[in-house]
Amino acid sequence: MLQTSNWSGCIWTASHQVFPLNYRSIRSLPFALFSKRRSTKFMASLSTPTRPPKPIEVAKRLEQFKTTIFTQMSMLAIKHGAINLGQGFPNFDGPQFVKDAAIEAIQDGKNQYARGYGVPDLNSAVTARFKKDTGLDVDPESEVTVTSGCTEAIAATMLGLINPGDEVILFAPFYDSYQATLSMAGAKIKCITLRPPDFSVPIDELKSLISKNTRAILMNTPHNPTGKMFTREELDAIASLCIENDVLVLSDEVYDKLAFEMEHISIASLPGMYERTVTMNSLGKTFSLTGWKIGWAIAPPHLTWGIRQAHSYLTFATSTPMQFAAGAALRAPDSYYDELKRDYMAKKAILVKGLKDVGFTVYPSSGTYFVIVDHTPFGKENDVAFCEYLIKEVGVVAIPTSVFYLNPDDGKNLVRFTFCKDEETLRSAVIRMKDKLKK
Ligand SMILES: Cc1ncc(COP(=O)(O)O)c(C=O)c1O
Repeated sequence: MLQTSNWSGCIWTASHQVFPLNYRSIRSLPFALFSKRRSTKFMASLSTPTRPPKPIEVAKRLEQFKTTIFTQMSMLAIKHGAINLGQGFPNFDGPQFVKDAAIEAIQDGKNQYARGYGVPDLNSAVTARFKKDTGLDVDPESEVTVTSGCTEAIAATMLGLINPGDEVILFAPFYDSYQATLSMAGAKIKCITLRPPDFSVPIDELKSLISKNTRAILMNTPHNPTGKMFTREELDAIASLCIENDVLVLSDEVYDKLAFEMEHISIASLPGMYERTVTMNSLGKTFSLTGWKIGWAIAPPHLTWGIRQAHSYLTFATSTPMQFAAGAALRAPDSYYDELKRDYMAKKAILVKGLKDVGFTVYPSSGTYFVIVDHTPFGKENDVAFCEYLIKEVGVVAIPTSVFYLNPDDGKNLVRFTFCKDEETLRSAVIRMKDKLKK
């Protein structure tokens, strides 16, 4: 019998006993019970259960992960009518020529399954852009895998290249999907914390963390949430450690075109690094089309093989018409990228000045569309408490950064704002904070 029957609270124990008649027990019932009339009635009663369905039981490897902070904050934003400077999606639309290319592809009947690793046109566009950006010549057929956003590139890379027990080094704060996908892959996470004000890489600490079990370093430049960009010196140091210790680099570069204060450098372009690097990217940030979820991973054939094995069984292929449109996007003239940068620099200037005027300590951000501030002048006990207060009492959403750390205490003084919003929205958020935030 059911041992704990709290139906409203959905507390379940001895779950196999909840429905006492399972397939086996039905078969063992006396035959007489299954006269046609009786069995129909009996089966009908089974198919219309009067009890609520069994709640979802999350697998151990994902138990610790809750609803993402971005979803939670966006829901709170709606509830309180707050201006959302939390989740990193633009509140303006992507370029018309890319949307036109998608419509054209749909009208042209490019609507069936795409080739698993990408429509040839997009694979070629990815390699052409990579060549322009890094000088590297890569083969679109054997070194590019098109994925459903960078999120899938990250997952396919982890699942395709990391064995259970392999050590992977992360830099905290880190984008939340890294920890979850590494956990799915059974990796052992080792973490180095980047600290304000400049969030520089502590190279000696990195050196001491690398062991014979280290399979990969997972990095992100320009970096979410800090806006830090890895310098050439840092990349050189990471590269020589990886070569010396035969370690892979998994490099998330989704913000490569949002590099404001310095030039973005792909670590794959450093001598000896292409052979051991997976470069992951996507369309969403550069073309303000975060909902399209078109991404890719570039890696030498021996690494691409693993990524494609995982990709084949995760999604197999990505939206066909959107891939054609992504190809058109990546062939945008330089003027598109120049204008994008100009627009974002203007937005950034509005937000950074506004936040300083409000009284935050604002840390320098060189790339991405994020900026990190120290909220402690406003006297709240931690980042989550501050963000709750900011949403409910001030009407502005920011993201608490403690969720980006293995040790949440490391982020308790910091919150992240995004400036991927139109200028009026940014100004309104600043006005609200000036009016209502009290020290
Ligand atoms: C660092 C980083 N990597 C990957 C992603 C996910 O990219 P996509 O939307 O292409 O899956 C994001 C999105 O915010 C991000 O910030």
